[in-house]
Amino acid sequence: MPNSAKQFKKARFQVKCRHVSFALIVLNALFILQLLSNTCRADFQGSTHMVPFDEGTLNYTKGQPAGPVARLQQQIDKGEVKLKHDADYGYLLSVLEALKIPRSSQALVFSKTSFQRERISPTTPRALYFNDDVYIGFIPGSPLMEISMADPKLGAVFYTLDQTKTDKPKLTRNDQCLECHASAKTMGVPGHLLRSLITDENGVADLNTGASEVNHRTPLAERWGGWYVTGTHGSQVHRGNLFGKTAFDRQEKEPNYLGNQTNLDRFLTVANYAQPTSDIVALMVLEHQVHMHNFVARLNDEAILTLQAYGHIRYLKTIEEAFLKYLLFTEEAPLTAPVKGTASFTQAFENLGPRDHLGRSLRQFDLQTRIFKYPCSYLIYSESFDRLPDKLKQDLYQRLWNILTGKDESPEFQKIPLSVRQAILEILIETKPGLPDYWESGK
Ligand code: HEC
Repeated sequence: MPNSAKQFKKARFQVKCRHVSFALIVLNALFILQLLSNTCRADFQGSTHMVPFDEGTLNYTKGQPAGPVARLQQQIDKGEVKLKHDADYGYLLSVLEALKIPRSSQALVFSKTSFQRERISPTTPRALYFNDDVYIGFIPGSPLMEISMADPKLGAVFYTLDQTKTDKPKLTRNDQCLECHASAKTMGVPGHLLRSLITDENGVADLNTGASEVNHRTPLAERWGGWYVTGTHGSQVHRGNLFGKTAFDRQEKEPNYLGNQTNLDRFLTVANYAQPTSDIVALMVLEHQVHMHNFVARLNDEAILTLQAYGHIRYLKTIEEAFLKYLLFTEEAPLTAPVKGTASFTQAFENLGPRDHLGRSLRQFDLQTRIFKYPCSYLIYSESFDRLPDKLKQDLYQRLWNILTGKDESPEFQKIPLSVRQAILEILIETKPGLPDYWESGK
């Protein structure tokens, strides 16, 4: 090949390379932008790394749970509580009553995404029920009921209950559940799960679509794939009540054609369930709560390990800030139309209080532009929060006090109007035991 031809080829090659590297730079930039936009809505760097929860002090597997499910089992063993068996629901109704879980919290999931997936389908969804610290999974006709609990010491703990009638029903701890319930999706600790996936007619999920971790930051448009949703939400679109390509295609042309459903009769035999609903407000609370429980468990483990290694928790600042943002709903997906449930859940939840002398409570709903009227998680009252290592709790209280009184000027927390922060401060001072003295004296 003559020299000039060689040079021409070389030059062409270089130009090509430049094109390729330019394309790579653009791709890289897009990738970084994508990462940034994801991290803006994420928690803190490293929030998905696995925590060595079975080592040393954390000792998850051998640790004794102390929460309400463990207490219920003790009461059953001592004969203080007798669970009633029912031909239709097995022990479900009696367990709900014993653990004070409202039936109205029922949420129906039809994606085949969990432990008993072969029993789950759009005509036989799994029902979940919950209160502040326990979650129950029930499938009509299944021999097993599934239970998870946010334990104040161990984080999420899992149990099964055999639905066959017996004199001494046993809630058996089951760590096999960690196969799915301890991963990046549960913040690297044994934790709770909530997903939104597009499914086919049978409820088989397409794992490449949808949101693998749903919480109060997830836009409504991405929520509830694989779930039934009852309630009204105006023009806001979501993926609930949809399965199969035909339904999704129709949704493209006719947004919300299966939205604003107040009745599920067209999809399943509702009489097989304790409740005819899969209440939109219950779902929104569930989504906030599941991530909050995982966050508290992760924070607890991090603090225990850091204190053990260094004797202080100065390295946890980033996690603490991320936690406070979640606690105060600063990145909540806004509502663009009012939301209204179909069950008595809203009332039952609000009634739990506690309220201040003006009748205000962190459990009061807004449901016009956001979920709660006073956006500070009610889980601040939970045993799991109270049992966080003291050093960490004191740090959180100090930052919270600075934010709520307006001393803190970081833009993230300025988003909450000062009057709302003031109201949260007043509610907490009256209703939250164990606050540091400076909260009351106002210094
Ligand atoms: C194959 C994966 C998988 C296994 C194994 C699994 N789960 Fe789950 N679980 C899920 C998913 C996914 C969800 C989220 C809801 C859904 O999509 O059904 C979930 C949700 C739950 C919930 C609702 C609240 C929460 O904690 O997330 C309970 C209760 C539950 N599972 C109990 C159990 C119990 C008890 C076991 C073990 C006997 C278990 N699960 C095993 C995947 C699994």
